[in-house]
Amino acid sequence: MSLVNEAQVIDALSTVQEPDLKKDLVTLNMIEDISIDSDNNISFTVVLTTPACPLKEQIKTLCIDAVKSHVPEAAGIDVTMTSKVTSTCNHHHCNHERPLKEVKNIIAVASGKGGVGKSTFAVNLAVSLAKSGAKVGLLDADLYGPSIPTMFGMQNVKPEMLDKNIVPLEKYGVKLMSIGFLVESDTALIWRGPMASSAIKQFISEVDWNELDYLIFDLPPGTGDIQITIAQTIPLSGAVIVTTPQDVALADVSKAVSMFRKVKVPILGLVENMSYYELPDGTKDFIFGHHGGEIFAKTQGIPFLGEIPIDRAVREGGDKGTPYVLGYPDSATSKAINRASMEVARMVSITNATPAEELS
Ligand SMILES: Nc1ncnc2c1ncn2[C@@H]1O[C@H](COP(=O)(O)OP(=O)(O)OP(=O)(O)O)[C@@H](O)[C@H]1O
Ligand SMILES: [Mg+2]
Repeated sequence: MSLVNEAQVIDALSTVQEPDLKKDLVTLNMIEDISIDSDNNISFTVVLTTPACPLKEQIKTLCIDAVKSHVPEAAGIDVTMTSKVTSTCNHHHCNHERPLKEVKNIIAVASGKGGVGKSTFAVNLAVSLAKSGAKVGLLDADLYGPSIPTMFGMQNVKPEMLDKNIVPLEKYGVKLMSIGFLVESDTALIWRGPMASSAIKQFISEVDWNELDYLIFDLPPGTGDIQITIAQTIPLSGAVIVTTPQDVALADVSKAVSMFRKVKVPILGLVENMSYYELPDGTKDFIFGHHGGEIFAKTQGIPFLGEIPIDRAVREGGDKGTPYVLGYPDSATSKAINRASMEVARMVSITNATPAEELS
């Protein structure tokens, strides 16, 4: 006969706070499938808001400790960690008719300046989130210089059409779409101004993404028509800003931050790319300056998502079509990129749980 009942387990778990959402796991409906066998072995499932949750192990330990201390009769404690990604659609952005209805969260990767590593980060973010178990898509919103086909080694592949919609391609567990899949690479695109705005809107609406947890938009550099159109018409969960530590990149990045803030798109965080180069003796050469991104993020009140060093293999991975985090999964640089990716997922979850008026 079991000495333990379900109510005791619920009481124990209602003492565990979700560290980011600041409510207990029972109130947040994050506990499922509690079962207790005749030997007092307890098992239950914790449903996180993202499979890429950086606090997964911490929350699991908090649950085990809470049950141990509140239910001393427990013999074994078995916790299954799973997830159900929350959606911006249940949130303030979705009062209007929403395009991309089956996509839970759309994340823009942006910067004020060209060549800082937006596409490189967007690709590795997408792959990293997909590896964690999320359903991920990546849209190359750069109509003039698309780089996703090359970065995935898919220069000569053409997508299929289904009922007048474009079916995204798929590689490394990520659904992909780029204007580069639709036009020849030497075809100059001449859309400008309002034409560029309607081209990008049409392009976005015609892709059949199906269900996705995260759709990443790799934006072109700057704050022109395409960026403004996307920021205004797509219900973005938020924007991730990529910069190098250099002052000039940071001056441009201020413009991008202002643009998103003006249209009330939350800034999920800032990634500093090309932070330093590690010399063979292990010392770091801060080629583009030191900690510029982190200081900028702090002064702007933006979460700092981490630094990614300059690494030849990152560039080679992009050119060869093997995203760096897949080619070198155990390197320190991959760990930095994965950590930054998990922070992005975490910030999306926090943003989705925050009332609109409290978002900055
Ligand atoms: N951490 C890094 N280490 C080494 N090379 C990098 C790193 N990040 C990016 N690169 C390289 O720098 C170049 C520019 O990167 P990328 O194309 O990602 O920038 P971008 O901001 O998307 O550029 P654009 O503004 O043209 O869209 C690429 O050749 C890329 O491989
Ligand atoms: Mg790019």
